[in-house]
Amino acid sequence: MPEMKLPRHVAMIMDGNGRWAKKRLLPRTAGHKAGVDAFINIADTCIEMGIEYLTVYAFSTENWNRAPEEVSALMELMSKGISKYEPELQKRNVKLNILGDLSLFEDKYRNEIEGVRTRLSKNTGMTLSICLSYGGRQEIVYAVNNLLKSGKTEITAEDISNSLYTASMPDPDLVIRTSGEYRISNFLLWQSAYSEYYFADVFWPDFDKNELLKAFEAYSKRERRYGR
Ligand code: FPP
Repeated sequence: MPEMKLPRHVAMIMDGNGRWAKKRLLPRTAGHKAGVDAFINIADTCIEMGIEYLTVYAFSTENWNRAPEEVSALMELMSKGISKYEPELQKRNVKLNILGDLSLFEDKYRNEIEGVRTRLSKNTGMTLSICLSYGGRQEIVYAVNNLLKSGKTEITAEDISNSLYTASMPDPDLVIRTSGEYRISNFLLWQSAYSEYYFADVFWPDFDKNELLKAFEAYSKRERRYGR
């Protein structure tokens, strides 16, 4: 494949686990399990391709409203998935960030995820950010409240950028959403002001390296003007 311009920061809305399972007459949790495998495969591919920042939307503030059995199954799958993936992430020098309000998580899951995050925090390779209990509006409110607490009475856009969970990161160049839905769903609202969007028709568990390359190819052909 000829050289193509890759995004420095790619963000993903991993949608369609439930429908993937339904199509196969499986329980929704089987879709989430397949979703964890797809996530690991895509993260591996991004590391191999030299992507600098990968940010994934794993659990939104709105997802707390799902059936309690589905929420606990997701918690279990995500924390186990992150733990299982830790040695590989360590070997590949990946830094882990968690974006969102982990205080809402049960202690055992919060401790497990925080442990992995701390142990990977000094790494200098790709930054992998997992959005957990994350909402874009909530994040902006959190940022503004922190600025108010610091005594500010007037703020700039830069102040807000520097107070978000993503403070030290560049904005996403490309945001990918799977499953044929064309919505932002409260994901990185502030940060995606100038991002390119790419919508894939496949459900998340079917989003593989080939699908990722199609998204990168589409991105490499776009001309970004930032309103100029
Ligand atoms: C949306 O599909 C997906 C989720 C709410 C969960 C996403 C989580 C993963 C893919 C696992 C990530 C793993 C780690 C380790 C971070 P949906 O359930 O809304 O599907 P539907 O729209 O078809 O019902």
